[in-house]
Amino acid sequence: MRRRKILGLAIGVVFIASPAFAQQPTAEVLHWWTSGGEAKALKVIHDRFVAEGGKWVDNPVAGGGGDAAETVAKTRILGGKPPTVMQWHLGLSLQQLAQAGLLGDVDAVAAKEHWDALLPPLIAENAKVGGKYVAIPVDIHGENWLWTNAKVFAAAGVAVPTTWDEFDAAAAKIKAAGYIPLAVGGQDWQETIIFADVVLGVGGPDFFDAALVRLEDAALESPTMLEVFAELVKIRGMMDPGAGNRSWNETTNLVITGKAAMQFMGDWAKGEFSAAGMKPGVDFGCALAPGSGDAYSIAADSFAVPRVADPDQRAGQLLMAHVVMEPETQRDFSFAKGSVPPRKDVPLDGFDQCSRIAMNILRQSPHLLPSLGSGMAVPLAQGGAISDTIAAFFASPMSPESAARALRAAVAAAR
Ligand code: BGC
Repeated sequence: MRRRKILGLAIGVVFIASPAFAQQPTAEVLHWWTSGGEAKALKVIHDRFVAEGGKWVDNPVAGGGGDAAETVAKTRILGGKPPTVMQWHLGLSLQQLAQAGLLGDVDAVAAKEHWDALLPPLIAENAKVGGKYVAIPVDIHGENWLWTNAKVFAAAGVAVPTTWDEFDAAAAKIKAAGYIPLAVGGQDWQETIIFADVVLGVGGPDFFDAALVRLEDAALESPTMLEVFAELVKIRGMMDPGAGNRSWNETTNLVITGKAAMQFMGDWAKGEFSAAGMKPGVDFGCALAPGSGDAYSIAADSFAVPRVADPDQRAGQLLMAHVVMEPETQRDFSFAKGSVPPRKDVPLDGFDQCSRIAMNILRQSPHLLPSLGSGMAVPLAQGGAISDTIAAFFASPMSPESAARALRAAVAAAR
């Protein structure tokens, strides 16, 4: 019975795909979900796609944050051999691709399945260009999270910090107790997330908006930015000798194994704690980064759909659109990934305390911000200029004054 229903759905989707010549909906899926938690989450989509009649061709391009995968995807598109769907952040860079005429759309499914009514406006608006869905929303993540190891905190006798002063004091005590206070992965995108978290926590949402969304000179090189870099000088001093080029999940693993106490990272980190069998509130803690208040900096993943000519691939895009937006897929994917589902009607049952923090903020906060790290906030060129500057700051003894000046200059040069 269930099988018949599943087949019916698949046939329905292939039918609206209209390619009379389609043999089997087929999707080459280009993505960077290669860590333990990420792979578990992707398997949810894979299994349903295959169960509903699709053929899945997996194309992982490792590299957290997605720079490597996005570069491969663009090269493939420009070379005339696009993947069927590609992991992409919702936001400006997706809009840029669509405006360059490189994307198709999945409107046939979106209209039939009422996506406009099911998705929060922020997600729907970012997944559409010219009124058409050019991307399939997969998840909603936040970037201003602090992950903590409960045992290490207990051993050091400190509480999870909610202000930067508390953070500095806790870090000193944790260090004195013999642990790495803060696990940092020495890659530009990870350091950029830390930078953005400190901008939000020290300056507040209006400053974040002025500095990292509107890119105002007066905010980039301001007394508040000097305070931000003063805190980052302290954080730079907490880096352990192994930090250089360490991947985000190896960095999370330091917290999981109790070598380090804390990590600033998006809530995809929760997928690693969960995959390691750890429980939130018991073995590990999730809290918004110090000073965040009710502000949440959002990074949302999607599958963008390049223009494809092959009928099987076109049918694959439409079947993927249907499968990814099914409530069970959205729920089970987010359980494994640490995200929350874009669909508003997925029941809260089974979601843990971390997801509930995220869901409450997403529903109520007036301070939902586009994240810097995922290219949602600023165009690619300026985003790159910022992360290059932050990487240079972390790799040298640069002072707060020089860093703020370099930041303003780099952004100006990229305009
Ligand atoms: C993506 C997440 C992913 C993380 C690490 C982020 O850019 O939005 O989905 O888990 O990179 O790979």
